[in-house]
Amino acid sequence: MLNGNSDGGVIARALEEEVAVSAPGDRLPSVRELMARHRAGPATVQRAIAALAARGLVEARPGKGTFVSARAAVAAAPDVSWQTVALGPRAIDADALETLIRPPDPGMLVLAAGYLTPDLQPTAALGAAIARAARRPGVWDRTPPEGIAGLRAHFASVIGASAGDVLITPGGQAALSACLRGLAAPGSAVLVEAPTYVGALSTARAIGLRPVPVPVDASGVRPDLLADALASTGARVVYLQPLFGNPHGATLALERRADVLAAVRAAGAFLIEDDAFRELALGPVPPPLFADDMDGHVVHVRSLTKPTAPGLRIAAVVARGPAAARLRAARIVEDLFVSGPLQEAALELVGAPAWRAHLRRLRRVLRERRDVMVPALREHGFALPLIPEGGMSLWVRLEDGEDDRELARRAGAAGVLTSPGREYFAAEPPAPFLRLTYGAEPPERLVEGVRRIAQARA
Ligand SMILES: Cc1ncc(COP(=O)(O)O)c(C=O)c1O
Repeated sequence: MLNGNSDGGVIARALEEEVAVSAPGDRLPSVRELMARHRAGPATVQRAIAALAARGLVEARPGKGTFVSARAAVAAAPDVSWQTVALGPRAIDADALETLIRPPDPGMLVLAAGYLTPDLQPTAALGAAIARAARRPGVWDRTPPEGIAGLRAHFASVIGASAGDVLITPGGQAALSACLRGLAAPGSAVLVEAPTYVGALSTARAIGLRPVPVPVDASGVRPDLLADALASTGARVVYLQPLFGNPHGATLALERRADVLAAVRAAGAFLIEDDAFRELALGPVPPPLFADDMDGHVVHVRSLTKPTAPGLRIAAVVARGPAAARLRAARIVEDLFVSGPLQEAALELVGAPAWRAHLRRLRRVLRERRDVMVPALREHGFALPLIPEGGMSLWVRLEDGEDDRELARRAGAAGVLTSPGREYFAAEPPAPFLRLTYGAEPPERLVEGVRRIAQARA
């Protein structure tokens, strides 16, 4: 009996339920009864009673037993209604973003994933990297707020920047948050593509900025409308994904780059360039916009999570001029510095011979999946405005009047996870869309997913 089944927590919870349906002064079961009921020893039962007594729910009267306290009714039902008034209107809305990071229910066909699944992650190389990193002397100590030198040098060399301009952050989302907080004046407008990454929208709104949409077509953001929006809003910050934008998939056309930069320069604005999918390119890609700007307008963000695993929460921000100091300060006040072991592991990973091999395999598998998913969609009558040459999502144009949320709901009921397009727009969507990803399922399951969505649509 002393090695019984219950721990103190289980007994405490059971007692609390009993208290909740008892009146003050009622006597609770004796220690002996509780020992028998829960197959526990006396010390475990006493611990559970003590935990409830500490919260004022019960009183132990020596020699008489344990009784429901007079305060129990109040203590058992805390009144948190004051918080509704104190909190006021909802300032932080992470619902759309959370659907992207929530682990899917087992058995679902996942056509809405922001990250690679474990079969495509460089798991062995990551394991080796973190083991080597953990053995470095002083690895658990503080690190410089801008990041460790080796990792800054790595990002500088792949981005084509100077290592002194690189700031390491715990992932791309934290990088975007620092950029928006650090560069935009409180309450100001920030221009975003329509559609854009939901995480940028949620963060901008959470810090009190006003995301204003600028249309995108198959060649990326429209420079003429960007210039108009900069003029009409007075915005000093533009957030763009010039390469395989999530969710639209478009890459900013070479002939638009100069006009986009000219509009940003003329407005004296910053352009946050989120380059999350460069490593997932299926063919040759243009250089980052950052390479065309010498005067500190473009602030480049490069995350490591997309080509590796969501848990490798490491990204780099590259900025020139006083903006770099502002962003460094924004990061320090946010969470001081990035975990040393994770930075060292990232550095180990990208320097390992397995890294290049991983990227080659990844691109091959992603191409295969895209090339299975696209014809499957077309076969079932889905319209694709463009076929992206990288990234991992497809942007499906539904028919006018079709309800994207209802389709996503019905697909979900048929066991397929998808994202309704409207969540990716800062304002009213111009048409209904569905975002589907091909990074999280093997070819045959992608085809089955498309079939079920088509059936749900019929
Ligand atoms: C375009 C884009 N930027 C940034 C992020 C943030 O990624 P992380 O914080 O994992 O680097 C995501 C994640 O989905 C994304 O799609």
